[in-house]
Amino acid sequence: MNITSQIKQPIFSEMELFEKKFHESMTSKVALLNRITYYIVNRKGKQMRPMFVFLTSKMVSGGIVNERTYRGASVIELIHTATLVHDDVVDDSNRRRGFFSINALWKNKIAVLVGDYLLSKGLLLSIDNGDFDLLRIISVAVREMSEGELLQIEKARRLDITEDVYYEIIRKKTATLIAACCALGAKSVIEEEEKVEHMRKFGELIGMAFQIKDDLFDYSEEAIGKPTGIDIKEQKMTLPLIHVLNTCTPQEKKWLINSIKNHNKDKKRVKEVIAFVKDNNGLAYAENKMVEFQQEALSLLGNFPDSEFKAALTLMVNYVIERKK
Ligand code: IPE
Ligand code: IPE
Ligand code: MG
Ligand code: MG
Repeated sequence: MNITSQIKQPIFSEMELFEKKFHESMTSKVALLNRITYYIVNRKGKQMRPMFVFLTSKMVSGGIVNERTYRGASVIELIHTATLVHDDVVDDSNRRRGFFSINALWKNKIAVLVGDYLLSKGLLLSIDNGDFDLLRIISVAVREMSEGELLQIEKARRLDITEDVYYEIIRKKTATLIAACCALGAKSVIEEEEKVEHMRKFGELIGMAFQIKDDLFDYSEEAIGKPTGIDIKEQKMTLPLIHVLNTCTPQEKKWLINSIKNHNKDKKRVKEVIAFVKDNNGLAYAENKMVEFQQEALSLLGNFPDSEFKAALTLMVNYVIERKK
C-alpha cells in the first residue's frame, strides 16, 4: 500500500463523505459559476487539509467526528481553493494541478470573482450552521493569509527580505491555514483549550515545513503539476536564495540582486541564479530547516496517546517533506 492510502485508511469513509459534501457546498444557480466549479472539483488536489482535520479530530477524541468536523473540513478546502485561484492571478501562473489555471482559461476578472465566491460560500457554511467557534479559527487564518501574501509582495519589491521575515511570510500565507485545520479538527469534538492549542501549534509547525518544501519544488525540474522556476521571475526570494545571499561575498550578492531586479525575465540568467543557489548550499540549508520544523511538529504529538489515528498523522508529517508534488 502506498503512503497516502496508508494515511487515509483510518479516515477513508470520512474522506468519501467529505468529497460529496464539498462538491455540494460549491453549487450555484449561475451557470458560468457551475461550469467553473465543476472544472475545479474534477481537478482535485492532494486534499491534505481535510485529511489534517479528520485525523486530528479522531486522534484527540479517540475516533469521533461529527457534522461540525465535516463542515469545518469543507470550509477550509473552499478557502484553500479560493486562495489558489487568487494566487495564480497574483503570481501570473497558468498551470495548477496539472491543468490550466482558472485565470489561464477564463482570465483574471473571472478568477478574482470565483475566488470571492468560494470564500463567501465557505464563510456562510459556518454561519448558517452556527459554528461560530470554528468560524473564529478560520477567520484568523483568512486574515493572516492575506497579510502574508501582501507582506511577500512588499518584500519582493524591496528585495531586502531576511530569514526571519521569510518565516513570518510563510507562517501567515500557508502555515496558518494548516494550523486552523488542526485546531478546528480538535475543537469540533473536544472542549479542552490546551489540547486545541497543542494541535494548532502542531499544524503551524508542519505548515512551515510544508511551505519550505513547496519553495524547494520551485528549484527542481520535476513535473509537479504547476510551473517551477517562477519564484525568481516574480522576484520572490525564498529560503534557499535568502541563505545564499546571507553567506556569499559582497560581489556575488550584488550580482544576485542585480539579476533578480533587472534580469528576472531572462531565462538564461534565472537559470544561472538557480545554479548558483544550488552550488552554494541553498537547497541543503532549506532542507535542514524544513526537517527542524517537521521534527518539532512531530514532538508535539507526544502529548497524545498512541492510536491508529496518531500513527496516520505521523505518516502525514513525514509525507509533507517527502511528497513528490
Ligand atoms: C498549495 O497547496 C499552496 C501552498 C500553500 C503551497 P497544496 O500543495 O496543498 O495544493 P493542492 O490542494 O494539493 O493542489
Ligand atoms: C501559496 O503560495 C498559496 C497561498 C498560500 C495563498 P505560492 O504561490 O508559494 O504557492 P504555489 O506554489 O503557487 O502553489
Ligand atoms: Mg503561486
Ligand atoms: Mg503566491
